[in-house]
Amino acid sequence: MKIHIITIFPESFESYFSSSIMKKAIDNNLFFIELYKLNDFSKNSSKRVDEKAYGMHGQVISPEPLSDCIDYIFSNTWKNIPVVYMTPKWDLLNQEKVENYYDNLWSEFIIICWHYEWIDQRIIDLYVDYSISIWEYVLSSWELSATVFIDSLVRHIPLVLWNQKSLEEDSFSKALDRKKEYPVYTRPEVFKWKKVPSILLSWNHGEIEKWKKDNLT
Ligand SMILES: C[S@@+](CC[C@H](N)C(=O)[O-])C[C@H]1O[C@@H](n2cnc3c(N)ncnc32)[C@H](O)[C@@H]1O
Repeated sequence: MKIHIITIFPESFESYFSSSIMKKAIDNNLFFIELYKLNDFSKNSSKRVDEKAYGMHGQVISPEPLSDCIDYIFSNTWKNIPVVYMTPKWDLLNQEKVENYYDNLWSEFIIICWHYEWIDQRIIDLYVDYSISIWEYVLSSWELSATVFIDSLVRHIPLVLWNQKSLEEDSFSKALDRKKEYPVYTRPEVFKWKKVPSILLSWNHGEIEKWKKDNLT
């Protein structure tokens, strides 16, 4: 999987992609990210990429640098790869949709990110294939919602997770009928008067599996 990220702040991704599971996946060539600084595509001398909105208060990313950047990426890929736009306004993400995106849609795509209120609607009309919301609340910037989306996809790539089985049986998975996972315990058997359910100590595999099923919510 290859993800092209158009951003004003490439550095804001560095910490996330340079630790833990993401770093391991990148180091092992399981997925690739390419960062494009939007200001490099600005034709004005100050390298500004935003303008005042018509008819309202707030800043909007100008269409020209964005379209130049997307066209540049298209010119370097073998076809016009999908363009994703993160927004509180449209398609609400859930586990089933993540699986569909991962299975059917993309081995390579572009994510546009910005820090102001909007991007020009004509970019959405002309270029954007998928508008995705990570839920019904508003964040102040794009990077968080994009990394949430990227993380949700990347963990599906074989060998990214140490234990692939956990992916199949996480909350909202098909194997759990899209329900939430059962409670999990470790040693000690008693902690502050709270005991581990005795069935989990029984070594009775059939009963334990039944307990897990009964404790999905
Ligand atoms: C302050 S928000 C802009 C909100 C926009 N004016 C509106 O009302 O829909 C700045 C950016 O953060 C990102 N963002 C904020 N909340 C999000 C969410 N729930 N899902 C996806 N992206 C979100 C989007 O990229 C958004 O453009």
